Amino acid sequence: MKHYTKARNCSSDLLLSLMHSALSMKRERRYPDLSGKLLGMVFMNPSLRTKLSFEAALARCGGQALSITPGGSSWAFEEHDGVRMDSDKPEHLKEAVRVMSRYVDALAIRSFAKLRSLNEDMADSTLSKFEEWSTVPVINLESAGEHPCQMLADMLTVSEILTEPRGKNFCLRWAPHIKPLPLAVPHSAVLAAAHLGMNITVCAPEGYELDPQYTEYAKTTAQASGGTFSQSRDPEELPEDTRILYVKSWGAPALYGQLETQQHDFERYSNWTVDDALLQEETHLMHCLPVRRNLVATDAALDHKHSVIIEQAENRLWAQLSVLEWIFESETHFS
Ligand code: CP
Repeated sequence: MKHYTKARNCSSDLLLSLMHSALSMKRERRYPDLSGKLLGMVFMNPSLRTKLSFEAALARCGGQALSITPGGSSWAFEEHDGVRMDSDKPEHLKEAVRVMSRYVDALAIRSFAKLRSLNEDMADSTLSKFEEWSTVPVINLESAGEHPCQMLADMLTVSEILTEPRGKNFCLRWAPHIKPLPLAVPHSAVLAAAHLGMNITVCAPEGYELDPQYTEYAKTTAQASGGTFSQSRDPEELPEDTRILYVKSWGAPALYGQLETQQHDFERYSNWTVDDALLQEETHLMHCLPVRRNLVATDAALDHKHSVIIEQAENRLWAQLSVLEWIFESETHFS
């Protein structure tokens, strides 16, 4: 059965094929036929883009997306195996996933990061349990480790800006925040650039390194696709000829689960807020949104003529249409 859950399980060929398909749908304003298809979406944290773009995608194609919020619009899910269920979580994920699979044609899950234990989050066990227990395809709407739908939209956005991204400079730059954010989007951003064969620089303060399993994978993938991977700690300068500046905040892995210490640490890096002065002649600014203005990036940077944040958000729709078409087509192409 096809799942779209982990970019690390997808070949560059598959991702590039999905991206080209999204690009052609967008250019031709073509919507695949998904008549009668039902997508069940489970959101364990809030969403604007992911929720609305999937709902819009299914509605435009003759299908329907149905969402639940565990603990809100549905029962809260117990995820641990073998426990006595005497907490405030009345339904076990094991039943919930198998039941939902009987109602819809595919399931989509935003499990998000719990931000308590780095090891637990990087294991992405909620997502794995959906894959294990679902009897229909599963789409990852952002787990703790990665956000493959955002990644595909980001590949699409970069490819619209740069006709040939291979060998061009891509900088993922850390920014401060008021609270620790997960590693999923920064991981997916470097994977997007890696699959496009770009020269990646991750620019972040010491202690804010990405998870080693993702950086190693991004490095290997970038090299295999004709690019490079390096790290920098200099907030003042971008690598020369940076064509894509991807701004994102994330928490320090060593401070995982330590909210107050993390918040104090952010105060040390107020000079990392991205300003338009950082943008070079041909640099385009990306951010997955939502973004906190004048904390992560200034108004001048976000409203700059080379900011593509709104196009990037639109591309979530086209990228996901491509994933949905692939998920629902007969299983003859990829596995
Ligand atoms: N970028 C993104 O996933 O946005 P939402 O959290 O609004 O879905």
